[in-house]
Amino acid sequence: MKKQRKIGLFDSGLGGLTVLRALEEKLPQVDKVYYGDTLHLPYGDKSDEAIGAFSREIVGFLAAEGCDVIVIACNSASAAAGTMLEESFPDLTFINVIDPVVASLAQGPQRKTALLGTRATVRSGAYTKRLDALRVAHELIALPTPLLVPLIEDGFLGTGIEISVLEHYLNDPTLEGIEAIVPGCTHYPLLREAAAKLRPGVDWIDAPAIVAEAVVTACGAAIEGSGTTTYYLSDATPSFLALASSTFGITAHWDKKVL
Ligand code: DGL
Repeated sequence: MKKQRKIGLFDSGLGGLTVLRALEEKLPQVDKVYYGDTLHLPYGDKSDEAIGAFSREIVGFLAAEGCDVIVIACNSASAAAGTMLEESFPDLTFINVIDPVVASLAQGPQRKTALLGTRATVRSGAYTKRLDALRVAHELIALPTPLLVPLIEDGFLGTGIEISVLEHYLNDPTLEGIEAIVPGCTHYPLLREAAAKLRPGVDWIDAPAIVAEAVVTACGAAIEGSGTTTYYLSDATPSFLALASSTFGITAHWDKKVL
């Protein structure tokens, strides 16, 4: 029998919408709830304790909204709080944004790969530890790129400034000779075009598509639902709403919900 499921996704802000967009393509009929914690943005510069506390509140809220599948659509929260959330909410199904990408890397060709992420994600060593746990030989070079999220959230995409900043990071000597880039922050898929201009021959890993596929697998044959997506923010600023509309075409109402 087909089961009805409701998917909750959360991120510090816009980033998780890259995952939501990929998911809408694969599971358009499933009801979804998106929560952007703009009041606490950026997560990447916070402690694990702070990220964990915010995430726990959000998951409690999404569960109260009827979500039974939770996509931690944020690398920083996946790294800092993924295990804690799974232990705290044993009745919910969790998909974090790191494990599916690690599994994909483990199956792919072994090549020098850059992992761009927030300070919290890089500090955690989550990607490397999980590849090591799978006993996969790899050359994954992690680089914290903390300026990228504020640039995106402040609307600098398309100005050329994001290209200069990304170029600065990609010129880091440790990334010499990379063959692939993992956008290890859910905001970064928005930089795909900029990266293609700067490093045309380098493979950009389509992390949102990989995560969305993992969500499809987790949901099984759940194809029921009215295809409604509800949007919440912990703080609604005019600039955020304008960016959600211009970047993702989301003109729906965002409810303000402080947790
Ligand atoms: N998009 C998030 C991530 O994947 C958080 C970015 C931030 O708020 O610093 O890490």
